[in-house]
Amino acid sequence: MIPREIIEEIINRTDISDLIGSYVTLKRAGSNMNGLCPFHSEKTPSFTVFTRSNSFYCFGCGAGGDAITFAMRAENLDYPSAVEFLANRAGITIPQDKNELANMGMSRKRVYEMNLAAAKFFRDNLFDKNVGGDALNYFVGQRKLSMATVKRFGLGYAPNNFWALTNHMRSLGFTEQELIDGFLCGRSQKSGKLYDYFRNRVIFPIIDVTGNIIAFGGRVMDDSKPKYLNTSDTPGFKKSKNLFALNYAKNHCSEQIILCEGYMDVIALHATGFENAVATLGTALTQEQARMLTKYTKKVVLLYDSDEAGQRATDRAIKILAEVGMDVRILKLNGAKDPDEYIKKFGADRFRALLGESRTGFDFKVARVLSTFDVQIPEEKIKASNAICEIIADSSSSVEREVLLAKASEILKLPFEVLKNNVELIIKKRLKEQRSNESRQAQMSIKNIGDRVNPEAVKYVGANALEESILGLLLIYDEYRAGVSRGQIALSEDDFVTAFGKKVFSAIMEVYNASEEFLPAMLGQYFTADEMGRLEKMRQNRLALTENGRDVLDASISALKAEREKKASNEGGDKFAVLRAKQEKLKNQRK
Ligand code: UTP
Ligand code: MN
Repeated sequence: MIPREIIEEIINRTDISDLIGSYVTLKRAGSNMNGLCPFHSEKTPSFTVFTRSNSFYCFGCGAGGDAITFAMRAENLDYPSAVEFLANRAGITIPQDKNELANMGMSRKRVYEMNLAAAKFFRDNLFDKNVGGDALNYFVGQRKLSMATVKRFGLGYAPNNFWALTNHMRSLGFTEQELIDGFLCGRSQKSGKLYDYFRNRVIFPIIDVTGNIIAFGGRVMDDSKPKYLNTSDTPGFKKSKNLFALNYAKNHCSEQIILCEGYMDVIALHATGFENAVATLGTALTQEQARMLTKYTKKVVLLYDSDEAGQRATDRAIKILAEVGMDVRILKLNGAKDPDEYIKKFGADRFRALLGESRTGFDFKVARVLSTFDVQIPEEKIKASNAICEIIADSSSSVEREVLLAKASEILKLPFEVLKNNVELIIKKRLKEQRSNESRQAQMSIKNIGDRVNPEAVKYVGANALEESILGLLLIYDEYRAGVSRGQIALSEDDFVTAFGKKVFSAIMEVYNASEEFLPAMLGQYFTADEMGRLEKMRQNRLALTENGRDVLDASISALKAEREKKASNEGGDKFAVLRAKQEKLKNQRK
């Protein structure tokens, strides 16, 4: 077994779209990336890289998994060699013994210590007139922040110098390796010397809810690119699990939290008295962040940039937040590109009034439909009605659909029943499409390759579908793994019908029980690359569905138990048949 620390380090250090991008031309598609599958020949791309879950899956050939699985396939390596391959690529030396291993990952505490020292250094430089004069002028003069706000957010300045931070941190006793591991410094390929990662940038420290400085964002003060540099994921920091300013907002958000895109937006909002604002850290909202927010509030107001990218991000965020049961409202900014600009232009009162007009996800989408079609023109009214019915059909709750239908009927001035029929038709059509897709896929896999990963799947079709559904949920949601582990969810290896199902279940639980944080890449040690593809399919199938609640899990488990009973009694029947045959044979012999 390769130690967890090594796998974790490699996964953290490997940007999967970067890795895969060096083999395949990838195009961005929403939060994911698409390309032609490198593992089978195809003309239309069915290969997807999921940046959010750090994984890939080909809907054509079923190849899938994490960075390690990809390296196994692409470089034709076994698991340990793939780990070594990625370690080399990321510049990590794999420790040879326990002692070395213990020294490998920096402890979180040490990372926080280091970041705190760096934050002080950046802040001191900001307030040093000779060094940070322009930077302070940028914050206060150009961005109109008060000194109090600058101090409250611990803002700083990284000098225009390659070694300022490096030398300072070395003098405080931090080692070269620590500075590299913490992403404060890089090592020059040419000279082998360390250099500062952030240079001539204003600095935004990122602080977790317990008050630790976990990372930095650094912005240029002009229009040069890249606009922001951010600390990559380190032992103490995962972008997907943190939100900017949640350390402050958590005490002001019992009613609602405002989610925006930029650090500067959040700072402007807090400075104006809206201390319930947070932002993602330069990535799209993740499921983890959405679930985290449910701990603090029930309602999220989405306040993304008014450009097209912001609007697309809004659609994605609505879906992710709705999945965790959050009440979502949307604010659309008119006359400004982002909240920071809006407040500067129109002031706090206008913003407060706007906040009162936040719309539900449905209203937001309907408004967009109504702005694209002119409902005075019959043809366009038909198109608008269909588009609105499609939106209503997205809702998985029939009660909610009734409410939305009533609203739509009023807006469109069309009879409720007519719209309702239309929505039901859409839902039926979608179900039919989904079924025929699934059966086509199932038939293809039987015809072309058979099911090599789970040969029993063909024999126990129903049970296999239930197993995949349950395992998909266990792969995604920590609460279900915890529930099984603590015995609150009655599920054991014996409940599974197929040998593959049993194996996946016990591997998930073994990895879960071995350490507090579930690291999916650890599963690679139990499975072949083909099997990892199947696991990825289970995960993606569940992620594609909105209904993933405990009731879904419970229903699947009890249905699986029934399938297992059925199998047991069939086999019982078979055994008797064999017995009878034997007796028959004996009788004949005696004759
Ligand atoms: P914006 O470009 O909207 O930046 O990106 P901003 O924070 O509003 O800054 P100003 O007002 O233009 O100065 C939104 C967020 O996306 C991330 C940062 O987290 C930023 O706050 N981002 C943006 C990056 O990580 N890198 C970039 O190059 C740009
Ligand atoms: Mn912005």
